[in-house]
Amino acid sequence: MPTIETPHLIMPKLGLGTWQLRGAECARAVADAIGLGYRLIDTAEMYGNEDGVGQGLRDGGVPREQLFVTTKVWWENLAAPDRALEASLARLGTEYVDLFLIHWPNPAVPLPATIAMMEVLKERGLCRAIGVANFTPRLLREAIDTGAPIAANQVEYHVMLGQDPLLALCRENGIALTAYSPLGKGGLVDDPALARIAAKHGVSGAQVALAWLLGQEMVAAIPKSGRAENMKKNQAALTLTLDDEDRAALAALPKDRRFVNPAFSPDWAD
Ligand SMILES: NC(=O)c1ccc[n+]([C@@H]2O[C@H](COP(=O)([O-])OP(=O)(O)OC[C@H]3O[C@@H](n4cnc5c(N)ncnc54)[C@H](OP(=O)(O)O)[C@@H]3O)[C@@H](O)[C@H]2O)c1
Repeated sequence: MPTIETPHLIMPKLGLGTWQLRGAECARAVADAIGLGYRLIDTAEMYGNEDGVGQGLRDGGVPREQLFVTTKVWWENLAAPDRALEASLARLGTEYVDLFLIHWPNPAVPLPATIAMMEVLKERGLCRAIGVANFTPRLLREAIDTGAPIAANQVEYHVMLGQDPLLALCRENGIALTAYSPLGKGGLVDDPALARIAAKHGVSGAQVALAWLLGQEMVAAIPKSGRAENMKKNQAALTLTLDDEDRAALAALPKDRRFVNPAFSPDWAD
């Protein structure tokens, strides 16, 4: 499994997203993914599945230190990330997570205070690295300016949503960009433009979408799947090489399609 290496983390390029997987189905999906060679599992307190993820981590039969587990503190809980992480660890049944993220920004809670508390959690060994999610370039700069070791920013990123300024800022600062909803919540997998490129390589549109992300420096992707056959196909995207013609066709696609945009989102143009 290829990795991203920064001063603050070593993270697999491909992981399993678990949003909307619950209970026994979630545990089975996580264990299947680990059996197939996945080492990064992405969850959050908000997903209500950390118990299932924890069961899957144990059922996967791979030593904990070989796995990379990400969880997130919900935006309404940013005043007490310590309480949130302690509860997440209890549900996951693990002593630490590899990456602990702010799930969404919250303008009502001062960012430096939350980040300072997260740094203490890192010093206590409850998380190996800290980071953010859904941070725009302006918010990410604010996080970087605290001087804390911000390791990753997890944002929506796929062939139909551009993130050039954010990616440039991440690269300048040694911050990994994790692409969430890399398949547009499944909405991209039947796209005709992707299907045309896929047919040329004898693969699927989903694999083309993932290969586009995985071929980018400092970018990781965490497609969700509850099915082993799709997990396997997504893994095969790691070895799919797109050519100049493919990349030009993908560059010509619209870059403003957002599949995740709740009412509490930041101003994305910021
Ligand atoms: N930080 C945040 O705010 C945030 C927000 C959204 C998501 N995330 C994270 O990112 C993860 C991924 O995003 P997502 O769940 O929104 O959507 P996604 O990964 O873009 O798409 C998931 C959908 O694609 C289908 N799929 C997966 N592989 C496929 C394949 N090879 N061929 C055809 N269909 C395939 C899945 O169906 P099957 O299950 O049937 O395979 C599922 O319906 C989440 O699970 C979560 O961990 C984070």
